[in-house]
Amino acid sequence: MGRQMRVGRLRPRWILALAGLAAATMTVAACGGSAVRGGGGGGGDQETVKLGVLLPLSGVYAPLGEDMQQGLRLYIDEHGGKLGGRRVELVTADEGEGPQTAVPAAKKLIQQDRVVAVTGVVSSAVALGVRDLFTESKIPLVISNAGADEITGEASSDYLWRTSFANTEPNAAFGPYVADQVKGGGVYVIAADYAAGKEAMGGFKETFEAAGGKVADERYTPFGETQDFQPYLNAIQRSGAEAVYCFYAGAEAVAFVKQYEEFGLADELPLYSAGFLTEGGALDAQGDAALGIRTSLNYAPDLDNPANERFRAAYQNRFEEEPTTYAVASYDAAAVLDQALTSIDGDVTGEQIAAALGEVGEVDSPRGTWRFSETHNPVQKYYLREVRKQGAGFTNATVRELEG
Ligand code: BEZ
Repeated sequence: MGRQMRVGRLRPRWILALAGLAAATMTVAACGGSAVRGGGGGGGDQETVKLGVLLPLSGVYAPLGEDMQQGLRLYIDEHGGKLGGRRVELVTADEGEGPQTAVPAAKKLIQQDRVVAVTGVVSSAVALGVRDLFTESKIPLVISNAGADEITGEASSDYLWRTSFANTEPNAAFGPYVADQVKGGGVYVIAADYAAGKEAMGGFKETFEAAGGKVADERYTPFGETQDFQPYLNAIQRSGAEAVYCFYAGAEAVAFVKQYEEFGLADELPLYSAGFLTEGGALDAQGDAALGIRTSLNYAPDLDNPANERFRAAYQNRFEEEPTTYAVASYDAAAVLDQALTSIDGDVTGEQIAAALGEVGEVDSPRGTWRFSETHNPVQKYYLREVRKQGAGFTNATVRELEG
């Protein structure tokens, strides 16, 4: 049972993502029912709440969005289709590959669909593009992936919450470990050229260099456009670096890892990254090329705690694959909204939900227990993981907790 069942059988979402196909923007009702109007004409009354889901339905990150939908659906279905005792109506909108798609989609959720809160958002560029809209509209956005540091840093607001991570965190947690492994040799740093890639590399370099590591060179590849990494792999080979540290996710992660191996670098230079590189369907598609890659992340399917034991079994049973960090963060977004809504009497507004999120205590998550920081980011642990064979497939096995 689990991810190995998928080997040799790429799901259509991955075939589309790998081919770089872009589907048209669309908005779909994810869960049945007609439009709901609360007492004030908004999307929440005593019996029902309308929840917006902003996720990529096409492009490089579409497969991450699907894992996030699965995590969200699992939580809501496990709770009888309700959050805080109210029936949930999900309205899904496409974040696409950037703010140009996501801003109109978010406006539609808020102004036309009149949702009381929104969850989702994969890309940091999107999170940064929509953040003011949510704060100004007084509608809470519970981000379940996008790690843009600023969202729970300088730009933090009563209406911005996150159940995933800040971009610097998994990378900063990994810096001292990589410095110790490479022992003074230079590390080549390469990442997707947008907010997440820049912040990820910033977080890594800070703790890596503080631990005595040296950066051999640094390169950023055009996001969503780079399919051929050969010129970059040539530059890495010529650089004299002894290891590589990267940030890629989704379809770009598949292309980078497969080409790294085909180019012959996998046997010469160890490849390190935050865990998005080998997460979920990306690992299925990478196959043997990913074997042995070590990464840092807040979740691994084999984490030994009762919440994960139950969640992993339910997720495998329902979706016939291993859960991912994307699914866990969305499951937890539903959990915190559930807690917040439970504490609200009568009709529901965005302002009430935002205030109630501030009262959410410890979350008993599959990643281990966590709580919101002062600026609404999870305070959580990070783990060293290694890609190993599991049955006929592959998994990210936990090696140990990272001290950070
Ligand atoms: C981001 O844009 O923040 C992001 C995207 C994919 C994986 C991790 C972070």
